[in-house]
Amino acid sequence: MPYNDELSFNFLTPTKVIFGLGATEEARMEVRALGGEKTLLVTDEGIVRTGLVERVKESLGDLCVGVFSDIPQDSGVHVVNGAAEFARSLKVDSLVSLGGGSVIDTAKGLAVLLKEGGNLEDYQGMQMLDRPQALHVSIPTTAGTGSEVTFAAVVKDHDLNQKVLLFDYHLAPNVAILDPHMVSGLPPRITAFTGMDALTHAVEAVHVLERNPIADALALRAIRLIATHLHHSVENGDDLLARGQMQIAATMAGMAFTNAMVGLVHAMAHSLGARFGVPHGLANAILLPHGMRYNMEVCADQYALVAEAMGVGKPEMSDEKAGMAAVNAIEELNKKIGLPGRLREVDVPEEGFKDCAELSLSDGSIVYNPKPVYETEEVLKVYEAAW
Ligand SMILES: [Fe+2]
Repeated sequence: MPYNDELSFNFLTPTKVIFGLGATEEARMEVRALGGEKTLLVTDEGIVRTGLVERVKESLGDLCVGVFSDIPQDSGVHVVNGAAEFARSLKVDSLVSLGGGSVIDTAKGLAVLLKEGGNLEDYQGMQMLDRPQALHVSIPTTAGTGSEVTFAAVVKDHDLNQKVLLFDYHLAPNVAILDPHMVSGLPPRITAFTGMDALTHAVEAVHVLERNPIADALALRAIRLIATHLHHSVENGDDLLARGQMQIAATMAGMAFTNAMVGLVHAMAHSLGARFGVPHGLANAILLPHGMRYNMEVCADQYALVAEAMGVGKPEMSDEKAGMAAVNAIEELNKKIGLPGRLREVDVPEEGFKDCAELSLSDGSIVYNPKPVYETEEVLKVYEAAW
């Protein structure tokens, strides 16, 4: 069955997407159109050093009343709570986020605190908000997380050493500006990691239990774009055509998975990140083919669509054969963009798998996996295969 037995679903993508070379120049107009008069630019120190912040500040002109750039790579609830105090002191009514997933998620949390007050921890959970939050225009500087259109914000509670997850339709930014100039300076390794994160979002959106035809359409187109353009963006960062197509793909994959969700591969990647600090996109890149092999018996028909999108499926192939062709194509893509194919190559000790497998079982994503996963042993098998 391509879809769940009783197909019923909600699909929402409330974010206005603006794409184009130089689209950043429209930031001011977008904030004004939303009714914003005092904007805080939210970014991080790495981006400040690239000079991109100046471009956005220039575009915002006198709308920009301050810059908050004190966001570490692994943002925290204390960062969001502190940023809210700063934003309130400036009487800010709108936010422009400029950065990767961590910056955009910080701004999503900040939008909540500006509207609702309190601390970020108070809004932890699913659909805890009942009205629109502070105005938010996001300008992603990576092509991968999809955070510019998703309903989730993940921020770490450094004191408790755990992630705080907020998931709510009202968290989606009002506008996402995709400007290839904003990603052209991204180093090859980060381009590869984030690109494979986007591919994993798309493939998981296609195989999960909550898959639906609208999310499929977005995800399959994203897969086609990634298969065509990711290696060009890695090999030549200045290839603005490839960069732009990857931005569109990551955003489409974001729209798909925030509605359909992700599965086992993300659950396992989250655990590797938490226990061994493996970058999210890299963990996904290595685990994705193995997660697909694990799920093959229940969703080969969906993987046949993935194969077709990647240009390796042929009409005469059985679903299983096409599904395996998709798996092989993903492994080839990993090689082509210089990523390792095995967990042993990224310094993950085999002895750590049991702990990671147990952690994966309590991850929110695992319940959406197409093949039900109840036992640690099942997850362990997939880690072992990837080692
Ligand atoms: Fe991801």
